[in-house]
Amino acid sequence: MTSPLLTLNNGHKMPQVGFGLWKVDNNVCAEVVYNAIKAGYRLFDGACDYGNEVEAGQGVARAIKEGLVKREDLFIVSKLWNSFHEPEQVEPILRKQLADWGLDYFDLYIVHFPVAIKYVSPETRYPPGWFVDDAGTKVEYAKASLQDTWKAMEAVHAKGLAKSIGVSNYTGALLLDLFTYASVKPATLQIEHHPYLVQPKLLELAKDNGIVVTGYSSFGPQSFVDGDMDLAKNISPLFDHDVINRIANKHGKTTAQVLLRWATQRGLAVIPKSTSVKRMEQNLDVTAWDLSEEEIQEISSLDQNLRFNAPLNWGIPIPLFS
Ligand SMILES: NC(=O)c1ccc[n+]([C@@H]2O[C@H](COP(=O)([O-])OP(=O)(O)OC[C@H]3O[C@@H](n4cnc5c(N)ncnc54)[C@H](OP(=O)(O)O)[C@@H]3O)[C@@H](O)[C@H]2O)c1
Repeated sequence: MTSPLLTLNNGHKMPQVGFGLWKVDNNVCAEVVYNAIKAGYRLFDGACDYGNEVEAGQGVARAIKEGLVKREDLFIVSKLWNSFHEPEQVEPILRKQLADWGLDYFDLYIVHFPVAIKYVSPETRYPPGWFVDDAGTKVEYAKASLQDTWKAMEAVHAKGLAKSIGVSNYTGALLLDLFTYASVKPATLQIEHHPYLVQPKLLELAKDNGIVVTGYSSFGPQSFVDGDMDLAKNISPLFDHDVINRIANKHGKTTAQVLLRWATQRGLAVIPKSTSVKRMEQNLDVTAWDLSEEEIQEISSLDQNLRFNAPLNWGIPIPLFS
C-alpha cells in the first residue's frame, strides 16, 4: 500500500501519509525505516532533535541498495533545531544533517519551533536539546529573529539543499508575520493536531495561503503517555474513547485508523510513528475509505484546545504557546 500525493505550493508532490521518527530508538531505527519502506511508506519525518538521523539514513541506504526504492521515490523531511537559528548556522547544520542521512538534499526542511536558543556546537553536544548546559537546567535565548532565520532557510532552498521549506509549531500570528517578509512562502506547516486540539481557524488560514498542513501526534495523549507526561496520563485516551470506538466498529477499522482518517479527510498530511510492522501497515490504510461528514463533525466536537507538546509541559521554561 502507498499513500496518495498532495501537491505543494511550489509544485512538488508530498505523500499524504508518512512515517514519524520521534522516539524511534537508535538501536532499531535503521530496521524500522527499512521495514516502513517495505510496508509502502515513502515520507520520513526526521529532525536533529530526534537523535537518530544517522540510523534513519542507514535504513534508507539499505532499501535503496536492495532496489526497493530510488532516492527520488522518497520524500525526506528534516528540521532546523532551535539552537541553529542564527543565519550563519543554518547551512552548516543542514549540511551536517544531510551527511548524517547520507543524502545530498532534503525534500522538505522546516523550522522546528519558533524560538531561537543559544548555539551549542555539535562537537559539544548533539543533539543539543533545549538547555545550554549539560545538566539541563538553564535556557538561554539567542538574538536571531524568525525573519532572519527564514531568510537563511530561503538561501538553502535556493541552493537546492532543501527542495521545499516550511515551518512547525507556528501560530496564526507568526504565519501572518511570516507572509509579510517571506520571498518563498512555506510549503507546509507542521502542527500538533488531534481531536483534543482541532484548530479549525489555523487550518483555514493555512489553506487560504496555499500551505499544506501536516498533523503530528494524531493519537493525542498516546505519544506523551510514552513520555511520562502527567497531563497526558490524566486525560481519557483517544484509543479507548466511546465516540472513536463506535465509529471504528461501524467501519470495521481500528481507532488509530479512524483518528488518522479524520485528519486526512480534513485535508491534512499525517506522520504516525510505529515500530510494529502490523501497526505501520494499518496506519497507511487511512485514505481509501471515508467517514461521513457527521462523523467528522462528531470527532471534531471532542475539541478541548488541549496541547500536549508545549515546552512548559515538559518542564522547559519557555512559554511558547502561552
Ligand atoms: N514538529 C514537532 O514539533 C513534532 C512534535 C511531535 C511529533 N512530531 C512528528 O510526528 C510524528 C508522530 O507523532 P508522535 O511521535 O507524537 O506519535 P504518534 O504517531 O501520535 O503516536 C505514537 C504512539 O502511538 C502508538 N501507535 C502507533 N500506531 C498505532 C496503532 N495503529 N495502534 C495503536 N497504537 C499505535 C505507538 O506505539 P508503537 O510504536 O508501539 O506502535 C506510539 O506509542 C513524530 O514521530 C514526529 O516525526 C513532530
